[in-house]
Amino acid sequence: MATTGTARAFLQRVNGTVSDHDRARMFRQKAVTVWLTGLSGAGKSTVAYELERRLIELGHPCYVLDGDNIRHGLASDLGFSKEDRHENIRRVAHVAQLMNDAGLIVITALISPMEEDRAMAREIIGGDRFVETYLSASVDDCARRDPKGLYAKARAGAITSFTGVSAPYEPPANPDLCVDTTHQNKEASVAGIFDYLHDTFLIKP
Ligand code: ADX
Repeated sequence: MATTGTARAFLQRVNGTVSDHDRARMFRQKAVTVWLTGLSGAGKSTVAYELERRLIELGHPCYVLDGDNIRHGLASDLGFSKEDRHENIRRVAHVAQLMNDAGLIVITALISPMEEDRAMAREIIGGDRFVETYLSASVDDCARRDPKGLYAKARAGAITSFTGVSAPYEPPANPDLCVDTTHQNKEASVAGIFDYLHDTFLIKP
């Protein structure tokens, strides 16, 4: 049950003495959240885990929050209605915010189809830490790949409210990064994000 307004009035913020700056220096990085958004099958998980591997190999603490995994635990009570997706994204955004506070780079792989939900995530995580990254494969491309066979099931009506088929996807109007996973391979897609983190001084050698 959520903390009520009255109970919240008695809560206070507590701060330690280790600053963001201390953690950034220790980890040689600014703790940002690379928020991957795109259709199912656009390559979010593939890109997320490959980027994670590359960062870890270079000694950068980071962690992937993947929608399918989160829905086995933290969000196992949620489905795919507009309200449930909103709640899913709210929870993941708070986890990402905490992990960023701990100094880690976070890579999220969630469809996060609605602009207003991504705006909420940006608000929770903080605008200076939020790197909105659009994996831009079209519905037809994703349905052609259909790695989990879900588009075929959705088109046959066996799955309802499926993003891109029977539920909406709103592409980001102004993402920080756009990755074309239709015309680029995995390595090039990951390199685009890695280079952005490097060139904007978010990670240091
Ligand atoms: S989100 O919309 O709330 O951001 P999330 O990324 O967590 O979605 O979960 C999407 C994953 O759930 C997909 O990769 C797919 O494997 C699975 N899934 C099952 N049903 C649906 C559905 N109706 N729409 C989209 N994805 C679904």
